[in-house]
Order: sequence, then structure tokens, then C-alpha cells
Amino acid sequence: MTQSNYFVDRGMNGNTPALPSRADESFVDYVCEARNTLLHARWKQMGDHGNETLKKHDIKIEHSADCVEQVRDVIAGDMELASFMRIKRSYQEIYKDRIIGSINTQRDDWLRKLDEAETTGPGSLTYDPDFPMPDYAKVQIHIQPRGYVGDDLAGLYYDCGTQIFFGGNNAGDAWHRELAERTALPEDGKVDRILEIGCSVGQLACELKKRNTDAEVWATDISAPMVRYGHWRAIQQDLDVNFAQMASEALEFPDNHFDLVTAHILFHEIPRPVIEKTLAEALRVLRPGGTFVLWDFSSASDEKPGYGGFLGLMDSADNGEPYAPGFVTMEVEKNHRGYGLCYSVYW
Ligand SMILES: C[S@@+](CC[C@H](N)C(=O)[O-])C[C@H]1O[C@@H](n2cnc3c(N)ncnc32)[C@H](O)[C@@H]1O
Repeated sequence: MTQSNYFVDRGMNGNTPALPSRADESFVDYVCEARNTLLHARWKQMGDHGNETLKKHDIKIEHSADCVEQVRDVIAGDMELASFMRIKRSYQEIYKDRIIGSINTQRDDWLRKLDEAETTGPGSLTYDPDFPMPDYAKVQIHIQPRGYVGDDLAGLYYDCGTQIFFGGNNAGDAWHRELAERTALPEDGKVDRILEIGCSVGQLACELKKRNTDAEVWATDISAPMVRYGHWRAIQQDLDVNFAQMASEALEFPDNHFDLVTAHILFHEIPRPVIEKTLAEALRVLRPGGTFVLWDFSSASDEKPGYGGFLGLMDSADNGEPYAPGFVTMEVEKNHRGYGLCYSVYW
């Protein structure tokens, strides 16, 4: 589908490589703007309409992970909701398709760059070609073809896609910079070691490093393509960040090791038993008095349904978030307020 013909290095857009051709980039920009306009303009209205429609059908969505199928049926029977979700999903498919097609016109160059970066610093890279990948991590999340682990360039695809799924607000990693600014540090001020789990391409870990220049920073992810690309990306910014392939539920660090542990939009993308193990691991490696900062969708609480009710559940049913219902109904904020800070970024 790609129209790319220009095999040239077009430089960087902030910390993200420009797509190989101007035609691809303007196409993706257009899709991004169209998608964001649609979502921002109609999100609340569609949410209200969806919630009313569910009420009419006597379907209760609060605190229930098993209502996704019912929600899907209701949408299929309502032309307005069905068109909204169809267009939203189509935009997602179209931009992913174009980004991936475009990047693959330079696939060999990219594979070579990633290989070369492996022995380059600053920072380090550790991964295992024989890593025992659990089945749950092989699924296609966010409709990214071959998922996070099934393509050597998955990290680069993901990076180029962040412009769009962060609502066009992540130029130069602005989104992650703001998160780093808002990340609460330990009260005693000691920040010698920082860990980000589920880092994908390391945008938050890198912004935390910029704010805590003397700290040793680790960025871990279960996906080798993510940490390999994240390492390359950090080198471009001359940042000493250590990338390692590691499952969040089996962290290879000693007890009480880190002053700060963060996870940004990891939890809604792992199954509930893995969330439980990850929470325990995050606490194990955190020193007494350290902070654990979790950024994610709203989980359920007494005050509100998780993940924005109807549209959240629909998004997980229709937009490649198979594990989100498990997370947003588990009352993370209420149950875990004691040991860390929990913010809701989106809803
Ligand atoms: C939405 S991305 C995270 C984004 C990133 N933290 C950011 O700030 O943009 C979710 C990441 O979690 C990773 N992941 C999924 N399951 C994991 C696990 N069990 N342990 C570590 N990483 C995992 C995926 O490979 C993916 O890169």
C-alpha cells in the first residue's frame, strides 16, 4: 500500500525518525489529525449516547469484565455508535499500515542500525534471542501487526505510532516529559536508581534520566524489538539509560534496589494474574520509602466505573486491548493507595 520511493534518511522529528518519504508522512499526519478531531469532537457525546443505549437495554457495565460482548452487540445495533467505532478503528488500521509499509522500504538499513547500536553507548542493552515468551505477550495489541514482539522493527513502528495514539500530543516526547515532571520522587529526596517497567521505546525512562542526571536508570520490557530500538533511540539523545528485556512479573533485580519504580500504560495490557505478580515484584525491588508510580487508565473504584464506562469497554473490545477489562475492574487505586501513588492519565 505504501507509496514510498525515496530511500533517503529524512532525519528526525524530535526524538522520532521521520518516515522515509514526505508523501507517507503527510498521509499519516492527515490520518492523525482526522482521527483526533473525530475522537475529541465526538467522544463525550458518543459516551453519553452509548451509556444511555446500554441503560435502555438494561445492561450494567460498572465493575464487570464480562460485558464486552454485550456492549459489542448493542453497538452493532446502533448505526451512530457502529459508524463511530468503525471509523475510529479504520483510522488506526490505515495509519499503522502506512507507517509499517513506509519503514519497510528501509528495513535492511534499520536492521543494520540496530545491530550496530548493540555494542555502542552511552547506556547498555541486554536481551536474549531465546527468551521464553509467554503466549499472552504474543497477541496483537492496538492492532499493531505482529504485535510488540513479532517483528524486529516493532519498536520503530510503535514510536512512529505514538504521535497518533497520544492524540497528537507527543511531539518531541512532550507527553512523557510532562509525566516525568509529575512523577513523585521519594520524600527523602534520594534518587540513585530508577526503574521503568514495560518501557517499550523508553520515552519515560529517558525523560526521567534528563531530570535525574546522576541516577542510574533502567528501562525494561518483555519485547526484544522494543528494548533494542529504545537503546538506539537513547543513544541518539546521548542518554546513559540501561535497556533490558525482562518480564515485569519476574524482575531480575535484588530486593530494595530502586528509589523509584514507574509503569506507564503497562498494566491494562497484561492479564490480571500477571498484574498481581507485577505489583508484588515492583514492591519487592523498591526500597523502603521509595515511590512506585503507576500511570494508567482508571481502575474501578467506589466512585466511578473503570476506564470511562461504555467507550472504554468498547475500545478494549474493538481496538485491540484484550486485557484492559481485567485491569479496569480490579480496583487498583483503592487497594494499592497505601504503597505508592496511582494516577489516572486518561479517564
Ligand atoms: C503501551 S506499551 C508501554 C508504553 C510505555 N511505557 C510508554 O510510556 O509509552 C506496553 C509495553 O509493555 C510491554 N509488556 C507487555 N507485557 C509485559 C511484561 N509482562 N513485562 C514487561 N513488559 C511487558 C510491551 O512489550 C509494550 O512495550
